[in-house]
Amino acid sequence: MNKIDIEIPKQKEYSYPVIISENLIEKAEEYIKHCTKAKKFLVVTNETIYPLFKERFKLSGSKFLVLPDGEEYKSLEYANKIIDSAIEDKLDRTDAIIALGGGVIGDMAGFGAAVYQRGIDYIQIPTTLLAQVDSSVGGKVAVNHREGKNLIGNFYQPKLVLSDISALDTLDLRQFKTGLAEVLKYAFIENSCRENGSFFKFLKDNREKIFAKDRNSIEELISTCCRLKSIVVNHDEKEKGLRAILNFGHTFAHAIEKTTNYTKYTHGEAVSIGMVWAFEFALSLNIIDKDYCEECINLIKDYGLMTKPDENIDENALFEAMTIDKKVQQGKIRFVIPKNNFKVEVISNIEGNDVLDFLKNIKNSY
Ligand SMILES: NC(=O)c1ccc[n+]([C@@H]2O[C@H](COP(=O)([O-])OP(=O)(O)OC[C@H]3O[C@@H](n4cnc5c(N)ncnc54)[C@H](O)[C@@H]3O)[C@@H](O)[C@H]2O)c1
Repeated sequence: MNKIDIEIPKQKEYSYPVIISENLIEKAEEYIKHCTKAKKFLVVTNETIYPLFKERFKLSGSKFLVLPDGEEYKSLEYANKIIDSAIEDKLDRTDAIIALGGGVIGDMAGFGAAVYQRGIDYIQIPTTLLAQVDSSVGGKVAVNHREGKNLIGNFYQPKLVLSDISALDTLDLRQFKTGLAEVLKYAFIENSCRENGSFFKFLKDNREKIFAKDRNSIEELISTCCRLKSIVVNHDEKEKGLRAILNFGHTFAHAIEKTTNYTKYTHGEAVSIGMVWAFEFALSLNIIDKDYCEECINLIKDYGLMTKPDENIDENALFEAMTIDKKVQQGKIRFVIPKNNFKVEVISNIEGNDVLDFLKNIKNSY
């Protein structure tokens, strides 16, 4: 069992533990009763996850709300169903909402918890690799608007995160790889979080065990990612500075997702392509060495992650999507650019023409 404390500087009362182990869903009651005084629990999940875990999840005072499965339901309309259900079940300010699911359920249940009666306790039980290494930690909660993803949201910390690695047994390969894209991202940014990291080597040496979902390897992998995220988030809870490095690969990724209407690629697929492009872009600007660029892209390839889109995406559409992304400040595109030796840097003065030329060239190369 691994326990990582996510500390919120200046607001110690909002700090919370992340527990990473097997069979935590069965033991939920034991952990949850220690972190909240709630007597009633609204467990938000979806119709895919519910049949998988309903028998395993035991917590007195809990009631399930089963929502449809899909990013398209991460909306105010469905967040309102969480509120309706909380009102119907007469949850008061001392009760709690539990998210049992992937990042979609986590973000939406967290949003519901943040706004219901100005905020009630909230517990995350992430069931996808992406949610265990990324979305369950850090306190970002949101729903989508038709004009863009996560446009309506806030920062709201859970009381507890229970990452049950046995939940990953039922996750399909595509979703597992989606999480792995975020995992590899941590390896590429590690030395900007702490010195002398060895996560890249761990991932290189343990690929087969990771794909076999070997318990120790997965526990170490999730723990390392959460530890790295916690270092960053501890410094920068509300994304003013250091936290931006977590967006490595994401500026291109968000543009890919947006130009393909969020339907063609999973977030992780877009992120792995985005990281490849970020390495290629940095190479074209002579920011990284060719050997380092190849070493990193080879890890992405070894993990069987996507390195390019499987269709031509118009470079002007991609560029336009990048310029309306939240990562644009004062008209300049903000890039998390890789540097040698698993470091990254946030650069805000990249010329638009350089980006457009790069997108044109990269399109011609696949
Ligand atoms: N809050 C944050 O900091 C943050 C960070 C990254 C991503 N996100 C958000 O996370 C969402 C993506 O999360 P995701 O990748 O987990 O997608 P998801 O929640 O849609 O889950 C992916 C699929 O896996 C299914 N599933 C979940 N757990 C399963 C299990 N154990 N076995 C079998 N199937 C299972 C789900 O029903 C769904 O069909 C996006 O909405 C994104 O915006 C938030």
